[in-house]
Amino acid sequence: MRHEKPTPTTSPAKPSKPAKPSKVEAAKAASNYLRGDISHELVDGKSFFSSDSIQLLKHHGTYQQDNRDERGKNSADGGKSSKAYSFMVRVRIPGGKLTGDQLLAQLDLCEELASDTLRITTRQGLQFHGVVKSRLKPLLRRINDVQLTTLAACGDVERNVMCCPAPYCRDPVHQQLQQLADRIAEHLAPRTTAYHEIWLTNESNGEKQLVGGGSNGHQIEPIYGRNYLPRKFKTAIGLPGDNCVDLYSHDLGLMAICEDYNIVGYNVLVGGGFGVTPSAKKTFPAIARRMCFVTPDEVLDVATAIVKVQRDFGNRSDRKVARLKYLIHNWGLDRFKAKVEAYLGRTLPGPRRDDVFGFDDHMGWYEQGDGRWFYGLNVENGRIHDTPERKIKSAIREICQTLRPNIRLTSHQSLLFTDLDLQQRKPLEEILKRHNVPLSQEISNVRRWSMACVALPTCGLAITESERFLPQVIDELEVEVARLGLSNEEFTVRMTGCPNGCARPYNADIGLVGKTAGKYTLFVGGRLLGDRLNTIYQDLVPGDEIVSTLLPILVNYKENRQPNERLGDFCHRQGVASLLAWSEAYLAQTAGT
Ligand code: HEM
Ligand code: SF4
Repeated sequence: MRHEKPTPTTSPAKPSKPAKPSKVEAAKAASNYLRGDISHELVDGKSFFSSDSIQLLKHHGTYQQDNRDERGKNSADGGKSSKAYSFMVRVRIPGGKLTGDQLLAQLDLCEELASDTLRITTRQGLQFHGVVKSRLKPLLRRINDVQLTTLAACGDVERNVMCCPAPYCRDPVHQQLQQLADRIAEHLAPRTTAYHEIWLTNESNGEKQLVGGGSNGHQIEPIYGRNYLPRKFKTAIGLPGDNCVDLYSHDLGLMAICEDYNIVGYNVLVGGGFGVTPSAKKTFPAIARRMCFVTPDEVLDVATAIVKVQRDFGNRSDRKVARLKYLIHNWGLDRFKAKVEAYLGRTLPGPRRDDVFGFDDHMGWYEQGDGRWFYGLNVENGRIHDTPERKIKSAIREICQTLRPNIRLTSHQSLLFTDLDLQQRKPLEEILKRHNVPLSQEISNVRRWSMACVALPTCGLAITESERFLPQVIDELEVEVARLGLSNEEFTVRMTGCPNGCARPYNADIGLVGKTAGKYTLFVGGRLLGDRLNTIYQDLVPGDEIVSTLLPILVNYKENRQPNERLGDFCHRQGVASLLAWSEAYLAQTAGT
């Protein structure tokens, strides 16, 4: 079975009565540009916020959560009235670019004010977990003290703008990409001063701090209006030869088209997105559609026009179908493009033929082009923490303190230490070794290309384990892959604790999606290039049977692949019915031996 798309629900011929806006829309409209009651509730002595404030707080970069491990332990009523509330706080970092000192400050903060760990997200951001309410304001202030921001890291706005993080200096293309990420992030950032009033006002003199988020002081939102967007909006900028940002999974993907080491324009991809509500058949994951080509000087206008069309025509009554992908599904791409052109005031040519053909996770050593080097360090599931066996947090600290690199976060939850001299290569590796952190080249391909979302214990939507469980699955899978002589193959294994798709499982070679307690849906047939959805191979697979269920596919791949065929392409070519039949025959045969 494929990811089914229902037939379009909007008929342009029959205008119907506008549906009632959702509760979140009402909360945003009444909030006076994201203020609501947050300031009062911050000091009301309770450990949690009201439901309206919870929605508004997302735009400020924080989610209210409760520790799922602790649920039901605390009181006679099964813990319902005494949840252990805390907050996830997300830092928005366009292109994942920050200094070593900024990262060090975040590491200090996770120890002083959060759960002692910091997490690199799948979209080049950083997350704190376990922040209790009384520590929210100090944490947000101190994040801003080092010129970073949490504003619009979550919520119904343009989220963190992603961009290929490779710091190649000689080739101006990568710099142009990063500059565009900064321009779009700045242009589409909310302009309300609510953030500064709530979190950054100096309580002794009322003075507002100038901060990393930037604010030009306008009370109103010239792009968003008082209701902001119907739903989150995600943008990524990448290259055909290096689609490390997963362009096709975004609401807006900008694929740079280059000639002579210069960007001549962008293929604009629209309407990707992976959120799915299991109980709602009308929801589906979508790969973005190729809409048009734009030149560098018009790309910001076109991006803004796309955001405005979604602002005005996206569904505001049902949040389950409010992402841009549903508008495009209902309208069709031509009608959507015509509306964008109407907002822009000119027509747009179709996309160039260029498409994605490469993918680089930037791990290991690379020369930057200016005589200096960068090192990509694989951070398993993005979790920066020390364990008795492996002290990755301490190692990153020491590298930042002694070698003074700059940092880029990757969309594979890892990081690059940049701007290092040749002589610093050896000390960096020594620091990693001393802390028992494997060098990127020592990590198996299976682990290196795996990703898991956070899931339990913090995510309120998690149905199964993900981050805490995937490493065990990889331990087992590594053994089988090595036994079959497939260790050199590169394929993505991505796990999420529910169908929302935060670790992008639906275009992976192997997607593992939490379905019910302890059981996962297995998808196969996506690929590293990210331009194709995968297909359900088997449903409700118990966690401890994931590897044994995948094993026949790996054996089949080894025996029947074409030269240079990758795992996802093999599965796609075979189709699920054929894969299942082969697996059944294989299992029957091996059971008899
Ligand atoms: C309806 C859809 C979705 C909902 C309701 C949702 C909700 C959430 C929540 C509650 C968290 C916080 C988990 C925690 O840190 O404890 C989270 C994390 C995250 N989500 Fe989503 N999400 C959705 C879809 C997506 C999709 C499709 C993507 C990207 C393709 C995404 C990207 C992220 C990222 C980057 C994180 C940070 C943690 C990580 O790297 O795994 N989300 N999401
Ligand atoms: S995929 Fe589901 S479980 Fe995982 S972080 Fe996203 S919402 Fe939570």
